Amino acid sequence: MARVPTHDVPEWTSTRYGDARRRLDRPGPIAMIDLDKLKTTDGLDLKAKRVIVRADLNVPVKDGRVTDATRLARLVPGLRELAGRGARVVVISHFGRPKGGPDPQYSLKPVADKLGELLALPVAFAEDCVGEPAERIVAALLPGHIAVLENLRFHKGEEKNDAGFAKRLAALGDVFVNDAFSAAHRAHASTDALARMLPAYAGPLLMEEINALVSVLEKPRKPTAAVIGGAKVSTKIDVLINLAAKVDKLIVGGAMANTFLLAEGVGIGKSLAEPELTKTALEIMHAAKQRHCEVILPRDVVVAARFEAGAPSTVVPTLEVPADQMILDVGPRSVAHCADIIGACSTLLWNGPLGAFEIDPFGAGTFALARAAAALTKAGKLTSVAGGGDTVAALNTAGVTGSFTYVSTAGGAFLEWLEGRTLPGVAALIPARS
Ligand code: 3PG
Ligand code: MG
Repeated sequence: MARVPTHDVPEWTSTRYGDARRRLDRPGPIAMIDLDKLKTTDGLDLKAKRVIVRADLNVPVKDGRVTDATRLARLVPGLRELAGRGARVVVISHFGRPKGGPDPQYSLKPVADKLGELLALPVAFAEDCVGEPAERIVAALLPGHIAVLENLRFHKGEEKNDAGFAKRLAALGDVFVNDAFSAAHRAHASTDALARMLPAYAGPLLMEEINALVSVLEKPRKPTAAVIGGAKVSTKIDVLINLAAKVDKLIVGGAMANTFLLAEGVGIGKSLAEPELTKTALEIMHAAKQRHCEVILPRDVVVAARFEAGAPSTVVPTLEVPADQMILDVGPRSVAHCADIIGACSTLLWNGPLGAFEIDPFGAGTFALARAAAALTKAGKLTSVAGGGDTVAALNTAGVTGSFTYVSTAGGAFLEWLEGRTLPGVAALIPARS
């Protein structure tokens, strides 16, 4: 294993990304909002009430067909439950990133159809999320029925968190439920302003996501490990800093591990790395050390001359990467070592792949460690929570998604939570202190 530096970083110099240590000493903003104050609709009489549900229907669609319905499937029990209680359910969502006006390519219609199929209920569709089309569909909605309104982002007011736009949405409901944890990092009209205009509640999926994150980060069974992978340190600086203060073992993988290795003076050949962030990497390692968090870097790696499917590859010790080769995965000794570490922990958080998993055979390390974590979870020895788009794709490929304790449907929101940030969509559900 490449050693975590035995030398101390001499000076805490501010990098372009700020002073890691100072951020470590600040209490995380999560601590500043009281999650216990989140209310659900449990016990409320919703009979014939118009309940606006902010969902995240932002799913992959190709040629008018939903290609991955995971997010929709997760919404179904909550929507069914509301309908079962006699609510008139009005589902709102963004879809893709249209430019603030109607664009057929970003219509929610095919998604609404798929949702109806999964619900096994007829789902009405309004061709605009506000104004006459929305009002007409909502007015015609019977208790126990569900409508989906067209893409919120067809209106500029959505992303601007515009109060006027939120008011037009609020006119369509009596109660607001946010069940879109994966969009809660956006302070948009449907996630922020609207929540302040109607009696606002946390939906079951949002609660599930938060409870999963709380169980690994805020109230974990110790000891805890985190696997953080992916291509770039630059996108995960705050995640690494926040986790270094929270977990006992921080396993760093993916191309971002190369930047850490480079920071330690390890030759990484032609590997992808961010040389401008080596100082930040040292700061993170130093901060981790101060918090008695062990940073684990790969001890052996899979190298190849080219980043290509099927490129001839070999396993070498991390300290012996040939100058003309690049690191594309962690090696088997690293996997075994990390599996031992996770085996000695009670809680695992996983975000990001350990190698270039989308290209065969460079997913082997990620898949093997994922299988080890899944087996420990199944044996009742580990609470495992994973999230982030690539992570879920990797777990799906490894065939272990169902064996983790919880797999988040969120990408950006999951990451922002790991950074220790308050998600505006969650904060808006917590009544201001009076
Ligand atoms: C997501 O897919 O991560 C969420 O739906 C948020 O989408 P956005 O990044 O376009 O806001
Ligand atoms: Mg996104």
